[in-house]
Amino acid sequence: MSIWECCELLSQYIDESDPDLDEPQIQHLLQSAEAIRRDYPDGDWLHLTALIHDLGKVLLHPSFGEQPQWSVVGDTFPLGCAFDESIVHHRVFEDNPDFQNPKFNTKLGVYSENCGLDKVPMSWGHDEYMYLVAQGNNTTLPPAALFIIRFHSFYYEEMLKWLHVFNKYDLYTKSKVLITVEEVKPYYLSLIDKVLHYFQV
Ligand SMILES: [Fe+2]
Ligand SMILES: [Fe+2]
Repeated sequence: MSIWECCELLSQYIDESDPDLDEPQIQHLLQSAEAIRRDYPDGDWLHLTALIHDLGKVLLHPSFGEQPQWSVVGDTFPLGCAFDESIVHHRVFEDNPDFQNPKFNTKLGVYSENCGLDKVPMSWGHDEYMYLVAQGNNTTLPPAALFIIRFHSFYYEEMLKWLHVFNKYDLYTKSKVLITVEEVKPYYLSLIDKVLHYFQV
């Protein structure tokens, strides 16, 4: 499946966890990408990151396992340490065995201070899936792009620079003014070809 076909496949879905979006996903992808392209005209990797950041939502599709919405969309959070109270629907963690496990329910849990996010397994979702797909295909995207893809639903206090930039476009570009897909398609096809020519989903 090509990247563009994947964008079109996602179009059938509306993310139930997103209160601001009732347009098909392809509009969200293109609205984010077009807005970031306007503000960072030379950052082609950023345009592409925006275009593909939510492609992991194909997990909702029958040919990718038809996983339920709760396991694909919504906030992501670190595992192996206490669930922070700011995580959405925090109360449901009371039924999670990790909540009672003294190895996992302290502030640092199984980690040492400043161990780095690359040591931290995150909860499953479209972010983690897309990150693994990109990494598993030896993507040529820069590390900052992989970081954005992996952590864009992880709202921790000190957001790193690119995540901070990106979230503005992910969260605040949802609009009734729809993008004319056919008009922008050539740009993204050439971008996919340039940056990800051998990348397969
Ligand atoms: Fe997302
Ligand atoms: Fe998104």
